Amino acid sequence: MALTSTPAWQALQRHRDALASFRLDAALRDDPARAGRWRVEAAGLHADLSRNLATDETWRLLLALAEAAELPRWRQQLFAGAPINGTERRPAWHTALRTAPSDAAVARTVEAERRRMLAFAEQLRAGQLRGATGEVIDTVVCIGIGGSDLGPRLVTAALGEPSGPIRLHFVSNIDPVELDQALAQAAPETTLVVCISKSFSTQETLENTRAALAWLRAGAPSLDTRRHLAAVTCQPERARAFGADPDLTFTFADWVGGRYSVWSACGVAIAIAHGADAFEALLRGAAALDAHFLEAPAERNLPLLLGLLGVWYVNFWGCRSRAVMPYAQRLRHLPAYLQQLEMESNGKRVDRDGRPLDYDTSPVVWGEAGTTAQHSVFQFLHQGTFFAPVDFVTGAAFERSDEERERLLYANALAQADALALGEAALKPTGAAKPEHAIVPGNRPSTFITLPRIDAFSVGAALALYEHRTFVQGVLWRINSFDQWGVEIGKLLLKQRLAG
Ligand code: F6P
Repeated sequence: MALTSTPAWQALQRHRDALASFRLDAALRDDPARAGRWRVEAAGLHADLSRNLATDETWRLLLALAEAAELPRWRQQLFAGAPINGTERRPAWHTALRTAPSDAAVARTVEAERRRMLAFAEQLRAGQLRGATGEVIDTVVCIGIGGSDLGPRLVTAALGEPSGPIRLHFVSNIDPVELDQALAQAAPETTLVVCISKSFSTQETLENTRAALAWLRAGAPSLDTRRHLAAVTCQPERARAFGADPDLTFTFADWVGGRYSVWSACGVAIAIAHGADAFEALLRGAAALDAHFLEAPAERNLPLLLGLLGVWYVNFWGCRSRAVMPYAQRLRHLPAYLQQLEMESNGKRVDRDGRPLDYDTSPVVWGEAGTTAQHSVFQFLHQGTFFAPVDFVTGAAFERSDEERERLLYANALAQADALALGEAALKPTGAAKPEHAIVPGNRPSTFITLPRIDAFSVGAALALYEHRTFVQGVLWRINSFDQWGVEIGKLLLKQRLAG
C-alpha cells in the first residue's frame, strides 16, 4: 500500500488538520508538566522536545507510524549487518565500528585495524615517526572529501586545541588555495600526507594528493616520498598502485559508508590531534547511544523521536528545511557534517524498490554557529513567511566554567528557543502597542539538545544520535539511506567534458 494511503499516515493527516489552531505558547503555559514530559535523556545527552508543534496525541500517532514501518525490524537488521543497502547489495554496518558485532571475525578485524591506526597516531604524537631523511614528522596534511573529511574535521575541532605536537591540516577542495595554505608553513622533510578515500578513486582527493607529492619532490628532489605518504581506504590495492606503502595504509570494510566513516581509520586525524584515548572515548559515546537506540522504549527513544519529528515537519507541515544551530564554537562544523549525513542519505526520489515517491524526503539542512547566526539568519527564522524547525545543540558546561561569556552563550540559545516558540508572549507586558513589522509571531518549533560537556564521549553520542535519526527517517520514508547515486552524474559529465 502506498505510504500516504496507510491508516497510520492518514490518521496523522487528519490530526494535523485538527491542529490548525495549535499554539505553543498556550501549550507551554497551560500544561506546566509539558517540559518535563518531553525531556528525554540518551547516553548523557539531554533533549527538550517540548517546544515542538506536537501534542501527546501527535506523539502517539507518530509512534504508530514507526510501528507500521516496522522500525524495530529494520533497526535489528542495521545492527546485525544485514544487506540493507539494497542498490549496493551490502550492509550499512558503521555501528560495528563502535558496538562489537555478534560476528566475532568482523569484530576482530575491526579491532585489529583500529589498534594499528591508533598506534600510528601515537607514534606521530610521540615524535617517533621519521621521514625519509630521518627528521621527525611534525606536519600532517589530511586530504579527503565528503565523508572522508567532514566527520574528522568536525570532531578534531570539537575537541578543542590539539594536545599533541603535530600541526594538522585538512584539505578537501580541488581549488589549489586550500592545499597551498596547508603547505605554506610546512617543510617537505617533516611533512606527512594522508590520503583518505574509501574508493581511492575520488578525483579531487587523488589530484590533491598528487599535487602534495609534487610539492614534496619540488622542495626536496631526492626525498623518498613513500615515507611521506599514508593512506586510508577500503581499496588497499589501488592505494598500493598509487604508491602508498602497505605499512602506512589503513583499511576499513566496504560496508562503512563514507558519511558514516568517522569511526574507522578515516578518523585518524582525531587520534593524531587528541590521542588514542580521545578516539576511544568518541567510540564509547557512540556505542552508548547505539545501546540507547536498541534498548530504550519507543516513547523515550531519542533518535526515534527526532526521526519522527523530521517526518512530521516535512510531510505534514510542508517544511522543506531544517536549521541546526550549534551554540558552541567548537561545534561550528556540525551543520556541514549534517548536510552530508542527512541530505546525501535521504535526498532520494524513489523508494527501496525503485518506485517514484509522491511525498517529500530530506529537507535542506543548514545552520551556523550561534550566537554569530543570531546576527545573520535568525531574522528569517523569527519573521520569515515560512518556518524551519531548529535544532539548538549546546553544552551544559564548556571549557571555562567560571567564564561569564559561556553563561551568556547558553542563555542566548535558550532565549532564542523561547522567542521562536512564544514570540511576543515571552516578553514581559509593557502596555505599549507594537507596529506589525516589529511583531514576532512565535509558534515556531525547536528542539534543544544539550551535551553535558563538549568532550569526546558526548560528541560521539551526538553524532550517533544524528546518524540514527537519519536512519529512522529513511525507514519511515521507505528509501535506501545508504547509497548516493545522484552524485555520479557530475563525475561522468566531468570525464566527458575533460575528454572533449
Ligand atoms: O561523491 C560522493 C562521495 O562518494 C561521498 O559519499 C563520499 O563521502 C565522498 O564522495 C568521498 O569518497 P571517497 O572516500 O571514496 O573518496
